[in-house]
Amino acid sequence: MKDVLLTILRDRQSSTAEFRRASDQLAALVCAEALAKLPHSTVTVTTPLAPAEGLKPAGSVMFVPIIRAGLALLPAFLFAVPDAPVALVGMQRDEVTAQPGLYYQKFPADLPDRAIILDPMLATGGSSLLVVDLLQGIGYTPGNIYHAGVLASGEGLQRLSAGIPEANITVVAVDPGLDGRKFIFPGLGDYGDRYFGT
Ligand code: PRP
Repeated sequence: MKDVLLTILRDRQSSTAEFRRASDQLAALVCAEALAKLPHSTVTVTTPLAPAEGLKPAGSVMFVPIIRAGLALLPAFLFAVPDAPVALVGMQRDEVTAQPGLYYQKFPADLPDRAIILDPMLATGGSSLLVVDLLQGIGYTPGNIYHAGVLASGEGLQRLSAGIPEANITVVAVDPGLDGRKFIFPGLGDYGDRYFGT
């Protein structure tokens, strides 16, 4: 299913509506995969017939979408964890240098145990790594920081894995490289432009 949805996202013929619908469906699958990586504890519940063991998330989590494309993933995560705080980070990659420029950040006063960075595209990895730095600056250890996205370049995945455990990273696919503009290649174009119809 994930592969079929990714094909719709990659197809340059997909309309804004088709891209959005595939992205929203894929976000729910990415969300389930990313949340399963958080620690869980075993609990016993009483079913109508007898006690049974089950799993329950251990600890609290906040979501950190990177504006703009990261906002496309946020509704799926909030649907799954409706009381999770959201820390917004505004970042725009420079079109020439591909360096991320931070223009906004807002974190909750009471910080949850873990943070999941939301950004569908991990190209050079610079944007996500800058958020990792921000999170470490407010007290998070690398092991408590997660990344949830759609596409990564091999290079971006490698760079981010130097900042947080690779096991904490969820993506649907890894593409071989980056093009001259530091876009994921072959990739799917500009996720933000395609999702928001700009
Ligand atoms: C794109 C993308 C990621 C970032 C990835 O955002 O959505 O946030 O670049 O690149 P990196 O891994 O090399 O840092 P962009 O800055 O173009 O803004 P947008 O989300 O508004 O499209």
